[in-house]
Amino acid sequence: MKFLMVCLGNICRSPIAEGIMKAKLVAANIQGKVDSAGVLSYHSGEAPDKRAISVASKYQIDISGQVARQFRRSDFTDFDVILVMDKSVQTEILSLANTDQERNKVKLLLEYAGIHEITEVPDPYYGGQEGFEMVYNMLDEGCKRILFNLSK
Ligand code: 4NP
Repeated sequence: MKFLMVCLGNICRSPIAEGIMKAKLVAANIQGKVDSAGVLSYHSGEAPDKRAISVASKYQIDISGQVARQFRRSDFTDFDVILVMDKSVQTEILSLANTDQERNKVKLLLEYAGIHEITEVPDPYYGGQEGFEMVYNMLDEGCKRILFNLSK
């Protein structure tokens, strides 16, 4: 399974999601591909936000080598599922899709995980470290459930 994680800047939420999903695939000995991208090009070429690197490292996940990039049209063919963090990101990515097949690949990560009480991973950029901690926990639970559901 090939997963693309997408947020707005590709420096906070989606790099954490990429790191978590990669670690879970390795731990479960599942073959797969995981990458992340942002709607914006503003942070392209940058490493993840220090606070994102910090929260991931707390859980033994190293995301410091990741490099931000913008979502591109070819991602619709290169990935099986495009997991977006919130509805504004979903709207942006859907606006780039040309076919139903492309549109059908775009899922809110938490909904795809079967979590319906909270469907959006909030943008932690303008908050403190505790926001990153909450985002980490949401993404960890989401990725866990996604792999569990795929194994059924
Ligand atoms: P992310 O957070 O979408 O989780 O990477 C953001 C990072 C930067 C900006 C917005 C969101 N920004 O506007 O610069």
